[in-house]
Amino acid sequence: TDTALIVVAAGSGTRLGRGVPKAFAEVAGATILEHALRGLAGVDARLVVVAPDGLEADASAIAERAGVVASVVAGGATRADSVAAGLAAVGDARRVLVHDAARALTPREVVQRVIDALAAGAAAVVPVLPVIDTIREAHDGELGGIVDRSRLRAMQTPQGFDAAVLRRAYAEAPDRAASTDDAQLVQALGVDVVAVAGAELAFKITTPADAERAASLLAPQPA
Ligand code: CTP
Ligand code: MG
Repeated sequence: TDTALIVVAAGSGTRLGRGVPKAFAEVAGATILEHALRGLAGVDARLVVVAPDGLEADASAIAERAGVVASVVAGGATRADSVAAGLAAVGDARRVLVHDAARALTPREVVQRVIDALAAGAAAVVPVLPVIDTIREAHDGELGGIVDRSRLRAMQTPQGFDAAVLRRAYAEAPDRAASTDDAQLVQALGVDVVAVAGAELAFKITTPADAERAASLLAPQPA
């Protein structure tokens, strides 16, 4: 395969607050990283897991338990640093997907939609969802105007890229540390970003409430 799939799992999980790096926190009897990798088994791509520095061997053991073959590299201080570390390890891949380990329940269809859009010629692909809350601006505690949510989309992962485009975006980004996803760096080059349908199940486990939701979705269902 000429496609690489980078799974970034090097974050600290401050908001989850478990006292361990988030990807190594357990939900429904397995680590978040194991759930994420199980969901990617069988995807036609070379897997690169980006783990917290010093936890590479643990990440390898988790990959084995999840039944996937993955190379593991150490991440950095920001998400963008971790993506850059993964990107340095994808070799001569022509297409690269970048995925948050924290989106551990991402349905396979979402991954496939991204791969299909790349195959159809897109240079950058992002799964998106409509925004369901009513959104307002706020300044110094004062509420401002309503933002028309019909014009807004929430960005998910995996995001897919032509490898050369993603490499250029990372080489040229003036302040990549400020980015929360990869498509914005690519868009800054003037490259069109194509949207495909995301999924509610691709939510990012960020807070304790998210972890509870993931646990109940992963729990065995009564017959
Ligand atoms: N990530 C990473 N390296 C970092 C920061 C984040 O690989 N230095 C990864 C996380 O492991 C996660 C994804 O990027 O899979 C999305 O980041 P986020 O949800 O913010 O995770 P954390 O940074 O771990 O959480 P927090 O911001 O609450 O500390
Ligand atoms: Mg973070």
